[in-house]
Amino acid sequence: MTASTPRARRLPVAILGATGAVGQTFIRCLRNHPWLEGELPGELADRTVLPCDPAEISAPIVFSALDAAAAGDLEPAFARSGALVLSNAKNFRMEPDVPLVIPEVNANHLSLLEQQRRSRGWSGGIVTNANCAATVATVALAPLHEAFGVRQVFVVTMQAVSGAGYPGVPSLDILGNVIPYIGEEEPKIEREIPKMLGCVQGGALVPAPVRVSAHANRVAVEHGHTVCMSIKLDKPATPEDALRVLEEWRGDAAVRGLPSAPERALVVTDALDRPQARRDVGSGAGMTVVVGRVRTDPQLDLRLVALGHNTIRGAAGGSVLNAELLVATGVVGSA
Ligand SMILES: NC(=O)c1ccc[n+]([C@@H]2O[C@H](COP(=O)([O-])OP(=O)(O)OC[C@H]3O[C@@H](n4cnc5c(N)ncnc54)[C@H](OP(=O)(O)O)[C@@H]3O)[C@@H](O)[C@H]2O)c1
Repeated sequence: MTASTPRARRLPVAILGATGAVGQTFIRCLRNHPWLEGELPGELADRTVLPCDPAEISAPIVFSALDAAAAGDLEPAFARSGALVLSNAKNFRMEPDVPLVIPEVNANHLSLLEQQRRSRGWSGGIVTNANCAATVATVALAPLHEAFGVRQVFVVTMQAVSGAGYPGVPSLDILGNVIPYIGEEEPKIEREIPKMLGCVQGGALVPAPVRVSAHANRVAVEHGHTVCMSIKLDKPATPEDALRVLEEWRGDAAVRGLPSAPERALVVTDALDRPQARRDVGSGAGMTVVVGRVRTDPQLDLRLVALGHNTIRGAAGGSVLNAELLVATGVVGSA
């Protein structure tokens, strides 16, 4: 089936953690989806949230917006029972046989699924999305890594409150404030970027030799993580070289035309004061990362700013795009 082929029958899906910030975004992303069954928010009012139990849910595709505390046991239970679990939790992201995927960047990592099924004896499987700030950073870094080789990244994030889930950070803690700490966020950014920029060789994932140093901050923004990066390259490049590469990059061709794929996964702005969360977070219906302020770094090689929607590209929308790719390539739903 090609990306543009309409499906005769839409595939049933389940959402684990449907009441949370990411779960609610899944419901919006699946509304009127041409291949996957979502429910209209109006109809949802009459629906009952089922227990998170594979015996109660038979959908072949299971989107997980579960807390890490619940995902560790529940996601493998669904994978064991035959479901393909598209997870947003941190638990399995760094397992060597678990794909950590942004489809435009590393769709070929999905080949790890085969080994995962074999070694774990699962008929289903787990495919993960990255940490939301790591996703934004990786989309901006991928074209530069392909063209020049990224060696070191110094990253400072300004992350929206919706990244903390619902109800999230108390309003009196965050209004008019910046909190220079997000639990476990920095190590996630530091280890997930090299995994996603790595490659699969002989059936095993080899992380890219990229050293990352991260500072994560929570800011009083509703949606959209802003990521400022200073970057050291293997092959030195001028800002003009970098801009050309960023503007030309389209990502993996397998993704083009999928229902949730934006026209461009990355766009470059030349406005001096962009990207801004308030103005740019909706780019590509929340699936496009906006990059700006590409300039020389006086210590390393380049510096830039990237912005992406944390609950859409960084979570639910990214998972739905992963599912579409798995459907389009016949890994799930071909029967
Ligand atoms: N927010 C983001 O921008 C973002 C981005 C990327 C990844 N993530 C990851 O995505 C996951 C969800 O994040 P979130 O921001 O949506 O968090 P959230 O708003 O706190 O939602 C968590 C969901 O998990 C459910 N849950 C918790 N414990 C459960 C259990 N034992 N059994 C069944 N359901 C349980 C909650 O149900 P109740 O409502 O019943 O408590 C809720 O639906 C997390 O792993 C997070 O790290 C979040």
